[in-house]
Amino acid sequence: MITIMITIVTMIMKSMNNYLKNLNKEIESAIVQEIKKQAEILKTPIISTEGINLLIQLIRIGNYGKVLEIGSAIGYSAIMMALNTRCRVTTIEKNEDSFNLAKQNIARANLAGRIDLILGDALEVEVKGLYDLIFIDAAKAQYLKFFDRYKNNLKSGGIIVCDNLLFHGMVGNQESVEQKRIKSLVKKIDDFNHALIDFVDFDTYIYEIGDGMSISIKK
Ligand SMILES: C[S@@+](CC[C@H](N)C(=O)[O-])C[C@H]1O[C@@H](n2cnc3c(N)ncnc32)[C@H](O)[C@@H]1O
Repeated sequence: MITIMITIVTMIMKSMNNYLKNLNKEIESAIVQEIKKQAEILKTPIISTEGINLLIQLIRIGNYGKVLEIGSAIGYSAIMMALNTRCRVTTIEKNEDSFNLAKQNIARANLAGRIDLILGDALEVEVKGLYDLIFIDAAKAQYLKFFDRYKNNLKSGGIIVCDNLLFHGMVGNQESVEQKRIKSLVKKIDDFNHALIDFVDFDTYIYEIGDGMSISIKK
């Protein structure tokens, strides 16, 4: 049932074009608009509108109560998930400046009671408990490590969502990438994508939504 629903939602999201972007008007609160502006000014990458809409719909379809996010940045995606669903979010950020800004933004959105913000490296902090959905949106070169570390914090039937798997179109077009450092990162993401599809404990599809998002359902 949930697989069919996810497929329907993602098919709808994939076909989003300018017509739908205009049609699917977002009613954003003043605080959300302000956070988006902060992200623009600080050049902090945040999830695309299509991407956050997909996450919100997944949480609603699954009626998920507990979400874990790896990579809070300034709190935009955590705030959007909490504002638009009834879930509780735990989110981890290792950069102290981003953490402090996220903390302020969460307080201003009146969500301190529903979003637990953890300062630290997600590969070092200890997170206990089981989650319905885990959203991985931190250092791209370390996705395999994040996935390995947190898959045991996912309930059976729960889902892991990863963002930026196409990395601005470069992953599907590696020969055109010239810079050595970027080439190596793109190769790492490509290796992760293949590993993700091959994990036997998960059913995974990768979609052309936002910057490339995967949905992996734990068997
Ligand atoms: C793309 S941003 C997250 C955006 C956020 N999810 C949103 O859409 O609003 C990635 C964030 O992950 C953080 N990060 C990278 N590696 C991390 C790690 N190992 N542990 C915790 N945070 C990490 C970075 O500092 C950065 O703020």
